[in-house]
Amino acid sequence: DKGAYRHFMAKEIAEQPEVVGHSLVRYVDMTTGRIRLPDGADFDFSTLDRLAISACGTAYYAGLVARYWFEKFARLPVDIDIASEFRYREPPLAPGSLALMISQSGETADTLATLRHCKAQGVKIGAVVNVPTSTIAREADVIFPTVAGVEVGVASTKAFTCQLAVLAALAIKAGRDRKVLSDADEQKLVAALIELPRLMSEALHLEDAIEKLAPTFAKAQDVLYLGRGTSFPIALEGALKLKEISYIHAEGYAAGELKHGPIALVDETVPVVVLAPFDPLFEKTASNMQEVAARGGRIVLITDAEGAKHAGETFATLVVPKAFAFVSPLIYAIPIQLIAYHTAVFMGTDVDQPRNLAKSVTVE
Ligand code: F6R
Repeated sequence: DKGAYRHFMAKEIAEQPEVVGHSLVRYVDMTTGRIRLPDGADFDFSTLDRLAISACGTAYYAGLVARYWFEKFARLPVDIDIASEFRYREPPLAPGSLALMISQSGETADTLATLRHCKAQGVKIGAVVNVPTSTIAREADVIFPTVAGVEVGVASTKAFTCQLAVLAALAIKAGRDRKVLSDADEQKLVAALIELPRLMSEALHLEDAIEKLAPTFAKAQDVLYLGRGTSFPIALEGALKLKEISYIHAEGYAAGELKHGPIALVDETVPVVVLAPFDPLFEKTASNMQEVAARGGRIVLITDAEGAKHAGETFATLVVPKAFAFVSPLIYAIPIQLIAYHTAVFMGTDVDQPRNLAKSVTVE
């Protein structure tokens, strides 16, 4: 039921503060402010040598963000692959690895094939999965549930931010298990997670401003999305969302890669969405932004209040609430979803059922 919303996607975008909250209460002990994994999922990360993540599409981008977190908070080396590539790369699987699948549906054929391949090699399997009765959930050794509820829109939104919330909790738990994080560090990071539903609700207030940008995006033939650090996978996700539902060609790039090729595309017809929280990477991204501006590119900057002050000229600046740097991917996900949604609505495409796409991809 779409309720008062025009599309399931709009409803699912709006639900994110609530379902991220639901996912977090499964992983956070609200009285101690520490991570507490759900029953049956109390995995100990202390003896792991590596984490090998596999997933497809949006779930893969959640994994890319998680790699930064596991490596930083837990000093745990992370391999990450697109599931359809994993097996053919023939990676040596160390017995001390956890193979972690990420999937909303739990039925994606490529991810399932990777799970079975890893299992056959004797590796332990974890799964971050939204559908608890799915094949991937059944075949995994440890299930880390997301609590996004049913996602109807083909373009994934709330499942993605719930995956991020769960992966953030797992990375903090891994940091504690591996004695990289102190109790105080853990409590600080958990406090940032608990703030998320409120901050995500605030980010949803950008909707009107984003709707006004839809005609600009709708005119474009190509759109670039740039970000550094954990904003880089969100740039990839932004480009995927726009492609899927508006059929406009879009690419996400690490901001630093711009001058190694894609800047050749930039002229006054190309909107460039820059994701840049005011963090230690901001100055570098701002200088990439100036390179775009100098070639006439239309910059749509997504940043916080401090970043907006330091940004210089843009075509549009969308200000999201300031947050602890590590949770910014969950906040920046919202404006990029809204850009795709309002562009598609403006163009009149079938937002919930885009052409050529299926909600769960059960062939390899
Ligand atoms: C993008 C999208 C797809 C899925 C991918 C994996 O909006 O929905 O890229 O993320 O097909 O699906 P799951 O998570 O069900 O394995």
